[in-house]
Amino acid sequence: MTTLFVNACMRGHDSRTLTLCREYLARKQDVVEVDLAALALKPFDADMVADRVEKQTAGAWDDPIFALSRQFAEAGDIVIGAPYWDLSFPASLKVYLEHVSVCDSTFHFTEDARCEGLCKAATLTYLTTSGGFVGDANFGYDYLCGIARMFGIPETRFVAAEGLDIVGIDVEDQMDKARAQMAKLG
Ligand SMILES: Cc1cc2nc3c(=O)[nH]c(=O)nc-3n(C[C@H](O)[C@H](O)[C@H](O)COP(=O)(O)O)c2cc1C
Repeated sequence: MTTLFVNACMRGHDSRTLTLCREYLARKQDVVEVDLAALALKPFDADMVADRVEKQTAGAWDDPIFALSRQFAEAGDIVIGAPYWDLSFPASLKVYLEHVSVCDSTFHFTEDARCEGLCKAATLTYLTTSGGFVGDANFGYDYLCGIARMFGIPETRFVAAEGLDIVGIDVEDQMDKARAQMAKLG
């Protein structure tokens, strides 16, 4: 099954988060990448919402407006790489989730009005690096756990290399600790 790599590492080749992601993904066979810095998606506004609702209502699921959502729903595993920005993650990742979160694609409502996930992924793995220590302010990951629940993804995992901007810290040692956590994920 395909692993979908959602690359929200906005600093591209300079990104330590991307370094960890590439190392983790090297073990996977079939990886498809969505590069959010390159995609530069637009946040949904009134016209875009109205347009999408019209296409949902018409059942026009082959329309390109649903492509990211359908790709996400079909993936066997999800890996999200994003640096720890402003206690969560870059806004491009939230905008991507606006494009992915579509009723009757990634989730739907049952007849008794329960929200039920439609995604096939077995796991959502979140890889990050942070300047300081995340501690109990892991708001980006907490939110993604909620999204995974909504989308029906049963298992979420988190790996972080922390403290990378602290003066005097051994950055490679911090990265190695994250590598050891990644090795345990399989
Ligand atoms: C816009 C921005 C916001 C950041 N916000 C935080 C923060 O809230 N807490 C923190 O510990 N580090 C913060 N950092 C530092 C990054 O988390 C850290 O440098 C990280 O390793 C960057 O990942 P990258 O090398 O993959 O780009 C921020 C950095 C940037 C550029």
